[in-house]
Amino acid sequence: MDNVTRLLKNSPSLSSRGTQGAPELVREDPAKSADEAFSPCIDTTITGVHFQNPVLTASGTFGYGQEFARLMDLNRLGGIVVKGISAEPMPGNPPPRIYETEAGMLNAIGLQNVGAKKFLEEKLPFLRALRARCVVNVFGYQTEDYVRCIEILNAGEGIDAYELNISCPNTRCGGMVYGSDPRLTAEVVAASKRASRFPLWVKLSPNVTDIAEFARVAEGAGADALTLVNTFVGMAIDVETRTPRVSNVTAGLSGPAIKPLALRMVYQAAGAVQIPIVGIGGIASAEDALEFILAGARAVQVGTANFYAPETALRIVDGLYDYCQRHRVHLSELVGSMRIPQSPVDTVNG
Ligand SMILES: Cc1cc2nc3c(=O)[nH]c(=O)nc-3n(C[C@H](O)[C@H](O)[C@H](O)COP(=O)(O)O)c2cc1C
Repeated sequence: MDNVTRLLKNSPSLSSRGTQGAPELVREDPAKSADEAFSPCIDTTITGVHFQNPVLTASGTFGYGQEFARLMDLNRLGGIVVKGISAEPMPGNPPPRIYETEAGMLNAIGLQNVGAKKFLEEKLPFLRALRARCVVNVFGYQTEDYVRCIEILNAGEGIDAYELNISCPNTRCGGMVYGSDPRLTAEVVAASKRASRFPLWVKLSPNVTDIAEFARVAEGAGADALTLVNTFVGMAIDVETRTPRVSNVTAGLSGPAIKPLALRMVYQAAGAVQIPIVGIGGIASAEDALEFILAGARAVQVGTANFYAPETALRIVDGLYDYCQRHRVHLSELVGSMRIPQSPVDTVNG
């Protein structure tokens, strides 16, 4: 993570996004506004779990929470989604594992983590003492790995939900990625749901043609909520050395570059299922978060922005409150409330 932070801090293109560069919401002078008397509720409930606000930090971009404790007041977050946990510890991929692109980053960290047992012993005690909710991201290479990881984690007091990362290649099916095969998606979700003591969120891969189909498959197999999206598969090449920029050759693209794509997928998934949606992908300001909420997300996650502006999630909490106060609405009223003035034209260019 230190490498990532260093890289992004030195980057004018990404670091200008969200802090100085992003258009922030217009804030009216509270002294002149009657809105001051209105105290909006910005809390949200997902799968029976109450979140004091709808802003969570995303898996893999916020460590196990503790790493950010000296940078911000973690108790003000809605929740923390921890780095993906597997049944056994994993070392991750060899370097280079990240590369900055136009308005985004490529990563192939390789799901490095401490393993489920060590997570319970060394990381969870810190997290359960926070007001922020704790969501544990889970992954494996075979369905049995997911189930075994969940069975170990079930002993953890203070876990509020699991988030299943299904963007992993299934080693038994020749590397076919769980999240891009409807049959594998259904299999791993159903088995994980049967094993889970806590609500099961399923994090969908965006690397599919029809996201609505996968949303329906996950819901049908027992998902309690959906998170979308994970990273888009991409790559970059150093033309001087003719070598890939990331050792894994392909890597996951995240950051502002993916926001319009992620937003479209949240909108399509929200129209396809009844279960709650958590939106993620390039969110770096309250306005970004509001777009996802208007498209149908009941909560949002902040990922890549944590690397170059760790205060982003808390700035978004404040911005959402300001917006709700200014518009005299409670946050729950905004979910899925995008207004479409006239019939949309159903073509890409039209
Ligand atoms: C360095 C890095 C590590 C990540 N690790 C995980 C992970 O362990 N599990 C997971 O489900 N998603 C992981 N992700 C994906 C993010 O949680 C998120 O879905 C994605 O980055 C899109 O959001 P963003 O554009 O706000 O970063 C990772 C992303 C990055 C950049």
